[in-house]
Amino acid sequence: MPSQRDLLARAIRDGCRGELRVDESLSRHTTFGVGGPADLFFLPADLEDLAVSIPLIRDAGLPVLPLGGGTNMLVQDVGFRGLVIGLAGGATQIEIREDEGVAQAGASLQVFSRRCQRAGKTGMEFGCGIPGTVGGAVCGNAGAWGGETWNDLVWVRGTDLRSGEEVGLKKAEVPHSYRHAELPDGLLIVEAGFSLGEGDPAEILERMNRMLTERKTSQPLSNRSSGCMFKNPPGSSAGLLIDRAGAKGWSVGNVSVSEVHANFVVNRGGGSASDVLSLVDRVRDRVRQDSGVELELEVRVVGEQGFEEP
Ligand code: EPU
Repeated sequence: MPSQRDLLARAIRDGCRGELRVDESLSRHTTFGVGGPADLFFLPADLEDLAVSIPLIRDAGLPVLPLGGGTNMLVQDVGFRGLVIGLAGGATQIEIREDEGVAQAGASLQVFSRRCQRAGKTGMEFGCGIPGTVGGAVCGNAGAWGGETWNDLVWVRGTDLRSGEEVGLKKAEVPHSYRHAELPDGLLIVEAGFSLGEGDPAEILERMNRMLTERKTSQPLSNRSSGCMFKNPPGSSAGLLIDRAGAKGWSVGNVSVSEVHANFVVNRGGGSASDVLSLVDRVRDRVRQDSGVELELEVRVVGEQGFEEP
């Protein structure tokens, strides 16, 4: 008897134009470079191809994990027992209109930010140095240098993976806050629209270059990491608290608290998810003892059945 996973693999291969891989290591698809395999990994060719796959995926009833740039994700070493939909390869179109920018979920946030700049549109410059996709940025309300994704977001379009129905949401319908957006469970983000202002391309570029320089000097960009590991607690900075607590440079295996910025955990090569998580626990304990602050993970942990509760 073929398993549900074999049947779904066959159905996708028969019906879709995109690529379907089996037992694909997620360490290849996350910036941390750790994590075990996904049973199935589907790379839709474009949004039409994705739409064809949705009823097949829904009917199979396996856990589903949408994946953008894999920049804010820590996959456990056991991997994921379901289907990952990798959006960064196929659903990447961007359209800059008169007063709105529309990006598909798999578009790079940095590319979107650049396209807005070149068209003389302001609002997205904060994204010029943030790795990852627009879909991922919408999910986690990514931000930097005073800007964040939901500031100028107007609408989101997605698919409910359980019913297969299309869902349209306006900004006011989705509660959001610092590094958080309360999107409905099971929603796959497909596309988002942002309101853009008018600006001079050269001035926008200058602002972006300042942000990029600042970023280069304060963050360990040459190491593999998931960006900032913890959210900043209200009124403080996780990096500052970890540094003050004396945890800079701490290591477990080949994973270390960066010497450049203490809120970055870096994989120096060959690190595992369990190394990262034991280092995270040690850092959290140390900061709790030192300042009484309970640090909350910004990076989302993925286990065999999907996202794990923090
Ligand atoms: N600091 C230290 N030691 C360190 C790191 C920082 O003392 O090792 C101090 C700095 O000197 C500064 C304060 O902590 O006084 C804040 O540091 P920084 O300016 O680097 O900003 P941050 O709060 O650590 C936030 C975002 C970054 C974003 C930058 C720039 C979070 C968790 N982090 O960092 O976002 O790039 O501001 O806007 O919100 C991310 O979310 O993945 C991320 C990297």
